[in-house]
Amino acid sequence: MTRAIAHPNIALVKYWGKQEKPGNLPATPNLSITLDSLTTQTSIEDYECDEIWLNNTQVQDTKISTFVDTLRKDFDISPIKIDSENNFPTSAGLASSASGFAALMTAINQHANLGMDAELMSQWARQGSASAARSMFGGFVALLPPMWCAQNIAPSSHWPLNTVVAITSKHVKAVASSQGMEQSRLTSPFYKTWVSSSGDDFANATHAIANKDFEQLAVVAELSCLKMHSVMLTSHPTLAYWNSATIECMQVIRQLRDQGTAVFFTVDAGPQVKAICLPSARKTVQGALDKIPNVLETICCAMGEGARIIP
Ligand code: DP6
Repeated sequence: MTRAIAHPNIALVKYWGKQEKPGNLPATPNLSITLDSLTTQTSIEDYECDEIWLNNTQVQDTKISTFVDTLRKDFDISPIKIDSENNFPTSAGLASSASGFAALMTAINQHANLGMDAELMSQWARQGSASAARSMFGGFVALLPPMWCAQNIAPSSHWPLNTVVAITSKHVKAVASSQGMEQSRLTSPFYKTWVSSSGDDFANATHAIANKDFEQLAVVAELSCLKMHSVMLTSHPTLAYWNSATIECMQVIRQLRDQGTAVFFTVDAGPQVKAICLPSARKTVQGALDKIPNVLETICCAMGEGARIIP
């Protein structure tokens, strides 16, 4: 049996929308930090036929089976049992597909002796879920053309940010990301502007990270997040991933920043809010988010490592 572990990542410059060619290629460059406390552990063993188990339940998951079948076109992989477990809510806007495909790719690579390096695994993981390409690496990670394999642009030690995740609902999200993105590409009047302005956001965020400029990173990350949600909200049918506690968390985070606390928010395709802050601000941020009614739980994360094999 082979086991791998991977962490979700949180995009500071978002990916929302795909190119119109094969390979699951994002329409925009994007950038994330990998988190440490949230984990997916995946084990692989030889079996009489393919089986997929997710959080102790056997499932039919076409995204996973298609991914394995695509790998089989290039590599010899015998039937396997995949057993994957998350220590956080699955498919609820906490990037479970990112950590899931990164852990799966890492485990299969080792189990079937595919001999891929991290860059190649990242390219393959991207075909399962584009954000998974980023979870192959730790620290600050960029996913950009022309190769669309992720790369580490700075280690965690460069600027060890903290993230406080506020869980506002544990329900599975209503519309999966891939479907939502396609809806946005086809119908949102803001989609073209979103794509054409993403290069500037990416450049500003990379500059902010290189210079450890918290205010610049806060402004560009919140802008990228709010632009993505504007595209989602103006898609038809509309994609509304927030609930009232999501909005309250965002307001509290803005107030804290106005009062001098180094924190900003980001929100993905779900109602959870991620508050990114300097380690010195973590207690204040967590305390403030814990007080909000309908915040069910907060989870603190430092920056994590990339996907890896575990004993
Ligand atoms: C909102 O990577 O889940 O989290 O490639 O279709 O599997 P697929 O999409 P996925 O989308 C992530 C979207 C996001 C923003 C981000 O992580 O960049």
